[in-house]
Amino acid sequence: MNKNNLGNADISSQDRLPFSQACENNKAPILNVLQKELQEHTHVLEVGSGTGQHSVYFAPRLPHLQWQTSDVTDNHQVIQAWHEIYPAPNLHAPFVFNLTTDSIPKLQDAPPYDAIFTANTLHIIAWPLVERLFELAGEALPLDGKLIVYGPFNENGRYTSASNQQFDSTLRQRDVGSGIRHKEDIIALANAHHLTLMTEYQMPANNQILVFQKITAN
Ligand SMILES: C[S@@+](CC[C@H](N)C(=O)[O-])C[C@H]1O[C@@H](n2cnc3c(N)ncnc32)[C@H](O)[C@@H]1O
Repeated sequence: MNKNNLGNADISSQDRLPFSQACENNKAPILNVLQKELQEHTHVLEVGSGTGQHSVYFAPRLPHLQWQTSDVTDNHQVIQAWHEIYPAPNLHAPFVFNLTTDSIPKLQDAPPYDAIFTANTLHIIAWPLVERLFELAGEALPLDGKLIVYGPFNENGRYTSASNQQFDSTLRQRDVGSGIRHKEDIIALANAHHLTLMTEYQMPANNQILVFQKITAN
């Protein structure tokens, strides 16, 4: 039934669109953070837009900025279907962006992205692709640009909850390259690419948001 790579997304029998209950649960708390962190930012690239549910919720509630979705090609049809039902003037159809092969895509006739947002991707993609994401973000973001990541992280070498430990085990059984990342590794990786951890938020269901900012030029 679920032919895309959308993690826990299911086909909703009600509307026939792939639907992620997790997105529905976390979208409001994430929006609260984005409204605070993106007040001065104008062009956001979302990496791994998934079903597109986050984008249709965030874009109309952040009307001062442009929200550019992206994902691997397989997910575009689903994202576009969500966009057709919930269009917004500042919500943009997905770019093909595959970390295995692509560089940060550019909005035509627009300034470069000054923020990159990604939710629930770092524990899905293999570590070399996590490294690639931070490398590309460090290259593409201007000074003061932000990379905002949402998801579960380990701290001090430990899981932060029994449910995250169980989730990690499930992830690794499904794909040996997946797994919950250590926050310290992510911070070190960011630092290697001119990105500094500015703020961290504890989020519901043992998730976190890490806000990195480019405060030195590369
Ligand atoms: C668990 S889903 C998260 C989707 C959505 N952001 C959310 O929070 O529900 C993981 C996402 O990572 C994307 N992804 C996997 N491999 C990728 C790659 N090589 N390049 C870019 N995105 C990738 C998947 O297509 C999917 O959208």
